[in-house]
Amino acid sequence: MIPPASKVVKNPRAKHGFRGRTCSITAVGSYVPEKILTNADLERMVDTSDQWITTRTGIKQRRIAAANEHTSHMAAKAALRAMAKGGISPEQIDLIIVATITPDMPFPATACLVQQQIGAYRAAAFDIEAACSGFIYALEIGQQFIMSRTYDTVLVIGAEKLSAIVDWTDRNTCVLFGDGSGAAILQSRPNAHGLLTACMGADGNKADLLSMPGGGCRCPATADSVSARLHFLRMEGKETFKNAVNAMYTAAQESLRRCELCISRIKCVIPHQANQRIIEAVGERLGAKPEQVFVNLDRYGNTSAASVAIALDEAVESGRIQRGDLILLMVFGAGLTWGAAVIEW
Ligand code: UT7
Repeated sequence: MIPPASKVVKNPRAKHGFRGRTCSITAVGSYVPEKILTNADLERMVDTSDQWITTRTGIKQRRIAAANEHTSHMAAKAALRAMAKGGISPEQIDLIIVATITPDMPFPATACLVQQQIGAYRAAAFDIEAACSGFIYALEIGQQFIMSRTYDTVLVIGAEKLSAIVDWTDRNTCVLFGDGSGAAILQSRPNAHGLLTACMGADGNKADLLSMPGGGCRCPATADSVSARLHFLRMEGKETFKNAVNAMYTAAQESLRRCELCISRIKCVIPHQANQRIIEAVGERLGAKPEQVFVNLDRYGNTSAASVAIALDEAVESGRIQRGDLILLMVFGAGLTWGAAVIEW
């Protein structure tokens, strides 16, 4: 008989002398905008086909936010859903971390706008930027505040309005991305393992593979920068693909190794939803069975920092994940950045 997960999982942090409390995800929530943009719609916008998009990416449709619906609005909606499910009041929240590459504006932080919208006036608030890896980076940061007893309740959100930075004339990228948000409440629960480990990595040598060149201090907005289309996302797809497979595989293996787990013990693998072929390649290298791997890419496309957050909420809501199950998250994005996390649900 296989012993329950709680009997076999070592707390990897304990090995290194960690004496603090553990951190659990006590509730999750997500939100996607109503408007659906299908592959057929894209066929009318650029030189592409449903057949190409489906076979090369696995994406069938994506959600697009309304003109007056911004990242902070979507983030707040996901947060309120997580709070409702967890029975968390706005006053309980000590810290809000928003992971995004599409903040409402360069400053103030989108997290501050979310604080105002959900009425969490006690909370400190800041954004982090680790592109599509942002949700795991934010989880790990939030976890540190819980484990160190600095805060009791941390709200972590991944939210994106990528439709605002996609070049809708570039078929190489515009078919890939969508809008949405996902949120998680972090708290300490006695006797619950929660987040067992998270590893993060980055390689700034490959920053040019995926970037938005305009809008920062290096290239502020000018008439020239706008006409050169520098305020849109750019990607070298093939190189990004190869790096994504290698980095997510390596991060996932490292996370499993730290917890002394093999992939067969994982109930649900939740990869960053960028491309079905990337998901399959990483899954195969890890030895995961297709039924272990959660995919919603076909419905939402790549939602960057919101991607695994939305998938996690859907996996919980659909009953794919039950309390006590072991789950593996893995992410990859611009930076380059990557990460993986093992969670006992
Ligand atoms: O979230 C951050 C991480 N992001 C990723 O990990 C994305 C990684 N990259 C990818 O998913 C894939 O590289 C893409 C889906 C972006 C592209 O797939 P690919 O198989 O690498 O295609 P490609 O870029 O090598 O292009 C193959 C052909 C080209 O035509 P030629 O030069 O062979 O004649 C492209 O022009 O497909 C063409 N193409 C398209 N055709 C129809 C590129 N985009 C399209 C399109 N519709 N939308």
